[in-house]
Amino acid sequence: MEQTLVLLKPDCYLRKLMGEVLSRFERKGLTVRAMKLIRFTSELADQHYAEHIEKPFYPGLKEFIMSAPAVAMVLEGEEAVAVVRSMIGATNGIKANPGTIRGDYGLSGRENLVHASDSLESAKREIALYFTEKDFC
Ligand code: CMP
Repeated sequence: MEQTLVLLKPDCYLRKLMGEVLSRFERKGLTVRAMKLIRFTSELADQHYAEHIEKPFYPGLKEFIMSAPAVAMVLEGEEAVAVVRSMIGATNGIKANPGTIRGDYGLSGRENLVHASDSLESAKREIALYFTEKDFC
């Protein structure tokens, strides 16, 4: 079993698509092991997106991720990292295939509804940013 970190981003919250997106993950067979509604601080945004801080799109990304609540969750299942990445689709909603979450619900590169860890190593680092042992059920 693998665990992966998923964020339902502020656009997902504001568009009231959180239930819809969570439902897809649940119907696939993934299990929610930890979950919380959060508001990104500047520090948490910089920690989560450490690899993007120097990129030209980062100021806009940071403003967006702090603009409204988000949900952080840990999903568990067989090959969960790869399964969730394939379910969310390409970064930009314009390029994401129909049938993926980003492909079905968005047209933006920044406001792309969900984030999911891209490797087991990233998942471990990212899960530790949001959750401690006692948050798991
Ligand atoms: P995510 O999977 O959370 O990882 C990095 C995020 O940066 C990405 O989703 C988008 O929200 C955002 N992003 C990536 N590339 C761009 C871009 N070219 N312009 C604006 N935002 C981007």
